[in-house]
Amino acid sequence: MKKENLVEEIKKLKEQKKAAILAHNYQPEEVQDIADFVGDSLELSRKAAEVEANIIVFCGVHFMAETAKILAPEKKVILPDLGARCPMADMLRGRDLRHMKDQHPGKKVVAYVNTTAEVKAETDVCCTSANAVKVVGNIAEEEIIFVPDRNLASFVGQKTGKKLIIWDGYCPIHEGIKARHVEKMKRLYPQAEVWAHPECRPEVLRLADKILSTGQMIREAPVSKAREIIVATEIGILHRLRKENPDKKFYPAREKAVCRNMKKINLKKVCKALLLEEPEVMVDPGLAARAREAINQMVRFV
Ligand code: 13P
Ligand code: SF4
Repeated sequence: MKKENLVEEIKKLKEQKKAAILAHNYQPEEVQDIADFVGDSLELSRKAAEVEANIIVFCGVHFMAETAKILAPEKKVILPDLGARCPMADMLRGRDLRHMKDQHPGKKVVAYVNTTAEVKAETDVCCTSANAVKVVGNIAEEEIIFVPDRNLASFVGQKTGKKLIIWDGYCPIHEGIKARHVEKMKRLYPQAEVWAHPECRPEVLRLADKILSTGQMIREAPVSKAREIIVATEIGILHRLRKENPDKKFYPAREKAVCRNMKKINLKKVCKALLLEEPEVMVDPGLAARAREAINQMVRFV
Protein backbone atom coordinates (compact mmCIF):
# COMPACT_ATOMS: atom_id res chain seq x y z
CA MET A 1 0.00 0.00 0.00
CA LYS A 2 1.27 3.53 -0.78
CA LYS A 3 2.14 5.86 2.11
CA GLU A 4 -0.88 8.15 1.51
CA ASN A 5 -3.23 5.16 1.47
CA LEU A 6 -1.71 3.78 4.66
CA VAL A 7 -2.20 7.13 6.37
CA GLU A 8 -5.84 7.24 5.23
CA GLU A 9 -6.45 3.66 6.37
CA ILE A 10 -4.91 4.37 9.78
CA LYS A 11 -7.13 7.44 10.23
CA LYS A 12 -10.24 5.44 9.28
CA LEU A 13 -9.45 2.50 11.57
CA LYS A 14 -8.55 4.83 14.42
CA GLU A 15 -11.94 6.53 14.31
CA GLN A 16 -13.87 3.31 13.79
CA LYS A 17 -12.24 1.67 16.79
CA LYS A 18 -11.93 4.72 19.03
CA ALA A 19 -8.18 4.27 19.23
CA ALA A 20 -5.45 6.74 20.17
CA ILE A 21 -1.93 6.63 18.76
CA LEU A 22 0.80 7.68 21.20
CA ALA A 23 4.36 8.05 19.90
CA HIS A 24 7.69 8.69 21.59
CA ASN A 25 9.92 11.55 20.42
CA TYR A 26 12.39 9.01 18.96
CA GLN A 27 9.85 7.39 16.62
CA PRO A 28 10.35 7.48 12.84
CA GLU A 29 9.06 10.72 11.29
CA GLU A 30 6.18 9.05 9.46
CA VAL A 31 4.91 7.60 12.75
CA GLN A 32 5.25 10.87 14.68
CA ASP A 33 3.27 12.59 11.92
CA ILE A 34 0.19 10.32 12.26
CA ALA A 35 0.22 10.20 16.07
CA ASP A 36 -2.43 11.86 18.23
CA PHE A 37 0.22 12.70 20.77
CA VAL A 38 4.04 12.73 20.64
CA GLY A 39 6.05 13.09 23.84
CA ASP A 40 8.66 11.91 26.31
CA SER A 41 8.26 8.95 28.67
CA LEU A 42 6.59 11.00 31.40
CA GLU A 43 4.18 12.81 29.09
CA LEU A 44 3.22 9.55 27.38
CA SER A 45 2.55 7.80 30.69
CA ARG A 46 0.26 10.64 31.74
CA LYS A 47 -1.47 10.64 28.38
CA ALA A 48 -2.07 6.88 28.49
CA ALA A 49 -3.84 7.24 31.82
CA GLU A 50 -6.10 10.13 30.76
CA VAL A 51 -6.78 9.66 27.05
CA GLU A 52 -10.36 8.76 26.14
CA ALA A 53 -9.95 5.70 23.95
CA ASN A 54 -10.72 2.00 23.92
CA ILE A 55 -7.41 1.14 22.32
CA ILE A 56 -3.97 2.70 22.70
CA VAL A 57 -1.55 2.00 19.87
CA PHE A 58 1.76 2.65 21.57
CA CYS A 59 4.55 3.59 19.20
CA GLY A 60 7.64 3.24 21.32
CA VAL A 61 9.40 0.39 23.09
CA HIS A 62 7.97 -2.41 25.22
CA PHE A 63 8.48 -0.94 28.72
CA MET A 64 6.55 2.18 27.66
CA ALA A 65 3.57 0.17 26.41
CA GLU A 66 3.75 -1.93 29.58
CA THR A 67 3.69 1.24 31.72
CA ALA A 68 0.67 2.46 29.74
CA LYS A 69 -1.12 -0.85 30.34
CA ILE A 70 -0.41 -0.69 34.08
CA LEU A 71 -1.81 2.85 34.27
CA ALA A 72 -4.80 2.07 32.03
CA PRO A 73 -5.65 -1.60 32.63
CA GLU A 74 -9.14 -1.16 31.16
CA LYS A 75 -7.72 -0.13 27.76
CA LYS A 76 -6.33 -2.45 25.14
CA VAL A 77 -2.67 -1.50 24.67
CA ILE A 78 -1.07 -2.52 21.41
CA LEU A 79 2.63 -2.37 20.54
CA PRO A 80 2.91 -2.71 16.74
CA ASP A 81 6.14 -4.73 17.08
CA LEU A 82 6.69 -6.74 20.26
CA GLY A 83 10.38 -6.97 19.37
CA ALA A 84 10.79 -3.23 20.02
CA ARG A 85 12.50 -3.51 23.39
CA CYS A 86 14.87 -1.26 25.31
CA PRO A 87 18.27 -2.92 25.83
CA MET A 88 18.85 -0.86 28.98
CA ALA A 89 15.56 -2.05 30.51
CA ASP A 90 16.60 -5.62 29.72
CA MET A 91 19.92 -5.21 31.58
CA LEU A 92 18.20 -5.59 34.98
CA ARG A 93 15.96 -8.48 35.99
CA GLY A 94 13.57 -8.63 38.94
CA ARG A 95 15.84 -11.11 40.68
CA ASP A 96 18.86 -8.80 40.28
CA LEU A 97 17.00 -6.05 42.08
CA ARG A 98 15.79 -8.45 44.77
CA HIS A 99 19.42 -9.41 45.32
CA MET A 100 20.44 -5.73 45.62
CA LYS A 101 17.66 -5.16 48.14
CA ASP A 102 18.87 -8.16 50.18
CA GLN A 103 22.36 -6.69 50.20
CA HIS A 104 21.10 -3.25 51.26
CA PRO A 105 18.17 -3.97 53.55
CA GLY A 106 15.74 -1.14 54.25
CA LYS A 107 17.03 1.11 51.46
CA LYS A 108 14.44 2.90 49.31
CA VAL A 109 14.45 1.92 45.62
CA VAL A 110 14.10 4.40 42.76
CA ALA A 111 13.83 2.84 39.31
CA TYR A 112 14.06 4.67 36.02
CA VAL A 113 10.92 4.07 33.97
CA ASN A 114 13.15 2.20 31.49
CA THR A 115 12.61 -1.06 33.40
CA THR A 116 10.36 -4.09 33.10
CA ALA A 117 7.11 -4.41 35.08
CA GLU A 118 8.83 -7.06 37.20
CA VAL A 119 11.48 -4.54 38.28
CA LYS A 120 8.87 -1.81 38.87
CA ALA A 121 6.99 -4.21 41.15
CA GLU A 122 10.11 -4.28 43.39
CA THR A 123 10.42 -0.47 43.38
CA ASP A 124 9.27 2.26 45.79
CA VAL A 125 9.09 5.03 43.22
CA CYS A 126 9.77 5.29 39.49
CA CYS A 127 11.16 8.33 37.71
CA THR A 128 11.87 9.49 34.19
CA SER A 129 14.74 11.63 32.98
CA ALA A 130 12.38 14.62 33.28
CA ASN A 131 11.82 14.27 37.03
CA ALA A 132 14.59 12.00 38.40
CA VAL A 133 16.29 14.83 40.34
CA LYS A 134 13.03 15.85 42.02
CA VAL A 135 12.00 12.27 42.81
CA VAL A 136 15.35 11.45 44.45
CA GLY A 137 15.62 14.86 46.12
CA ASN A 138 12.23 14.31 47.71
CA ILE A 139 13.33 11.14 49.52
CA ALA A 140 14.43 11.79 53.11
CA GLU A 141 17.07 9.03 53.26
CA GLU A 142 20.64 9.85 52.20
CA GLU A 143 21.43 6.44 50.69
CA ILE A 144 19.12 5.16 47.96
CA ILE A 145 19.17 2.29 45.46
CA PHE A 146 18.91 3.77 41.94
CA VAL A 147 18.57 1.49 38.89
CA PRO A 148 19.34 0.71 36.09
CA ASP A 149 21.09 3.67 34.37
CA ARG A 150 24.56 4.45 35.72
CA ASN A 151 24.77 7.71 33.75
CA LEU A 152 21.43 9.07 34.95
CA ALA A 153 22.44 7.95 38.46
CA SER A 154 25.71 9.88 38.30
CA PHE A 155 23.86 13.02 37.14
CA VAL A 156 21.17 12.68 39.83
CA GLY A 157 23.75 11.91 42.53
CA GLN A 158 25.62 15.09 41.66
CA LYS A 159 22.48 17.24 41.59
CA THR A 160 21.01 15.94 44.85
CA GLY A 161 24.15 15.13 46.84
CA LYS A 162 22.64 11.73 47.73
CA LYS A 163 24.68 8.54 47.82
CA LEU A 164 23.20 6.28 45.19
CA ILE A 165 23.70 2.52 45.13
CA ILE A 166 23.66 1.86 41.41
CA TRP A 167 23.22 -0.89 38.83
CA ASP A 168 25.75 -0.84 36.01
CA GLY A 169 23.21 -0.41 33.19
CA TYR A 170 23.30 2.07 30.35
CA CYS A 171 21.68 3.00 27.07
CA PRO A 172 23.93 1.77 24.24
CA ILE A 173 22.79 4.64 21.99
CA HIS A 174 23.56 7.45 24.43
CA GLU A 175 26.71 5.67 25.56
CA GLY A 176 27.83 5.75 21.92
CA ILE A 177 27.89 9.55 21.93
CA LYS A 178 31.45 10.41 22.98
CA ALA A 179 33.02 13.68 24.11
CA ARG A 180 35.04 13.75 20.86
CA HIS A 181 31.78 13.76 18.81
CA VAL A 182 30.50 16.77 20.72
CA GLU A 183 33.86 18.55 20.56
CA LYS A 184 34.00 18.06 16.79
CA MET A 185 30.51 19.56 16.41
CA LYS A 186 31.48 22.47 18.66
CA ARG A 187 34.45 23.19 16.39
CA LEU A 188 32.14 23.14 13.36
CA TYR A 189 29.43 25.27 15.02
CA PRO A 190 31.18 27.43 17.64
CA GLN A 191 28.07 29.56 18.27
CA ALA A 192 25.89 26.56 19.06
CA GLU A 193 24.70 25.53 22.51
CA VAL A 194 24.99 21.88 23.51
CA TRP A 195 21.91 20.12 24.91
CA ALA A 196 22.37 16.60 26.22
CA HIS A 197 20.06 13.90 27.52
CA PRO A 198 21.02 12.68 31.04
CA GLU A 199 21.48 9.13 29.69
CA CYS A 200 24.73 10.45 28.12
CA ARG A 201 28.17 9.73 29.59
CA PRO A 202 29.37 12.12 32.36
CA GLU A 203 32.11 13.53 30.06
CA VAL A 204 29.42 14.47 27.50
CA LEU A 205 27.24 16.02 30.20
CA ARG A 206 30.22 18.12 31.29
CA LEU A 207 30.30 19.64 27.80
CA ALA A 208 26.58 20.42 27.82
CA ASP A 209 25.03 23.84 28.36
CA LYS A 210 21.74 22.16 29.25
CA ILE A 211 20.84 18.66 30.42
CA LEU A 212 17.27 17.87 29.41
CA SER A 213 14.79 15.04 28.81
CA THR A 214 13.43 14.86 25.27
CA GLY A 215 10.21 16.61 26.33
CA GLN A 216 12.19 19.35 28.05
CA MET A 217 14.21 19.88 24.84
CA ILE A 218 10.96 20.32 22.91
CA ARG A 219 9.71 22.91 25.43
CA GLU A 220 13.06 24.70 25.71
CA ALA A 221 13.61 25.11 21.95
CA PRO A 222 11.05 27.89 21.27
CA VAL A 223 12.02 29.95 24.34
CA SER A 224 15.80 29.52 24.13
CA LYS A 225 17.91 32.44 22.92
CA ALA A 226 20.26 30.02 21.14
CA ARG A 227 19.89 30.03 17.34
CA GLU A 228 21.94 26.85 16.83
CA ILE A 229 21.86 23.78 19.02
CA ILE A 230 23.92 20.59 19.05
CA VAL A 231 21.67 17.84 20.34
CA ALA A 232 23.23 14.90 22.18
CA THR A 233 20.48 12.27 22.13
CA GLU A 234 18.76 9.87 19.74
CA ILE A 235 18.32 11.61 16.40
CA GLY A 236 14.54 11.02 16.16
CA ILE A 237 14.03 14.13 18.31
CA LEU A 238 15.38 16.34 15.51
CA HIS A 239 12.20 15.91 13.46
CA ARG A 240 9.99 17.71 15.99
CA LEU A 241 12.65 20.23 16.98
CA ARG A 242 13.08 21.30 13.35
CA LYS A 243 9.39 21.17 12.47
CA GLU A 244 8.34 23.26 15.47
CA ASN A 245 11.28 25.73 15.30
CA PRO A 246 11.97 26.46 11.63
CA ASP A 247 13.98 29.58 12.55
CA LYS A 248 16.60 27.57 14.48
CA LYS A 249 19.27 25.08 13.50
CA PHE A 250 19.58 21.72 15.23
CA TYR A 251 22.57 19.44 14.68
CA PRO A 252 22.91 15.86 15.94
CA ALA A 253 25.95 15.39 18.21
CA ARG A 254 26.31 12.04 16.49
CA GLU A 255 24.47 11.14 13.28
CA LYS A 256 24.71 7.45 14.17
CA ALA A 257 22.85 7.82 17.49
CA VAL A 258 19.91 5.75 16.28
CA CYS A 259 17.83 3.46 18.49
CA ARG A 260 17.05 0.52 16.20
CA ASN A 261 14.33 -0.65 18.55
CA MET A 262 12.46 2.64 18.32
CA LYS A 263 12.68 2.40 14.52
CA LYS A 264 11.06 -1.05 14.41
CA ILE A 265 7.66 0.66 14.33
CA ASN A 266 6.46 1.90 10.93
CA LEU A 267 3.20 2.90 9.23
CA LYS A 268 2.58 -0.58 7.84
CA LYS A 269 2.88 -2.15 11.29
CA VAL A 270 0.69 0.54 12.88
CA CYS A 271 -2.00 -0.10 10.27
CA LYS A 272 -1.88 -3.88 10.72
CA ALA A 273 -1.89 -3.54 14.51
CA LEU A 274 -5.00 -1.35 14.35
CA LEU A 275 -6.75 -3.73 11.99
CA LEU A 276 -6.01 -6.91 13.96
CA GLU A 277 -5.90 -5.24 17.40
CA GLU A 278 -2.64 -7.02 18.15
CA PRO A 279 0.04 -7.62 19.38
CA GLU A 280 -1.49 -6.74 22.70
CA VAL A 281 0.69 -5.96 25.72
CA MET A 282 -0.51 -7.79 28.83
CA VAL A 283 0.75 -7.46 32.39
CA ASP A 284 -0.02 -9.96 35.14
CA PRO A 285 -2.60 -8.20 37.38
CA GLY A 286 -0.73 -8.99 40.61
CA LEU A 287 2.51 -7.63 39.21
CA ALA A 288 0.71 -4.62 37.76
CA ALA A 289 -0.86 -3.77 41.13
CA ARG A 290 2.59 -3.73 42.77
CA ALA A 291 4.16 -1.72 39.96
CA ARG A 292 1.27 0.79 39.75
CA GLU A 293 1.99 2.47 43.08
CA ALA A 294 5.60 3.25 42.04
CA ILE A 295 4.46 4.57 38.64
CA ASN A 296 1.63 6.64 40.15
CA GLN A 297 4.16 8.37 42.38
CA MET A 298 6.30 9.12 39.31
CA VAL A 299 3.48 10.78 37.34
CA ARG A 300 2.78 13.12 40.25
CA PHE A 301 6.23 14.74 39.96
CA VAL A 302 6.38 17.36 37.21
P1 13P B 1 12.75 10.70 27.60
O1 13P B 1 11.95 10.27 28.77
O2 13P B 1 13.57 11.88 27.81
O3 13P B 1 11.88 10.76 26.39
O4 13P B 1 13.86 9.61 27.29
C1 13P B 1 13.66 8.34 27.35
C2 13P B 1 14.39 7.44 26.52
O5 13P B 1 15.54 7.35 26.37
C3 13P B 1 13.53 6.59 25.89
O6 13P B 1 14.17 5.51 25.67
FE1 SF4 C 1 16.35 2.25 25.45
FE2 SF4 C 1 18.28 3.90 24.72
FE3 SF4 C 1 16.53 3.08 22.90
FE4 SF4 C 1 15.81 4.78 24.85
S1 SF4 C 1 17.26 5.18 23.21
S2 SF4 C 1 14.70 2.96 24.14
S3 SF4 C 1 17.07 4.06 26.55
S4 SF4 C 1 18.00 1.81 24.02
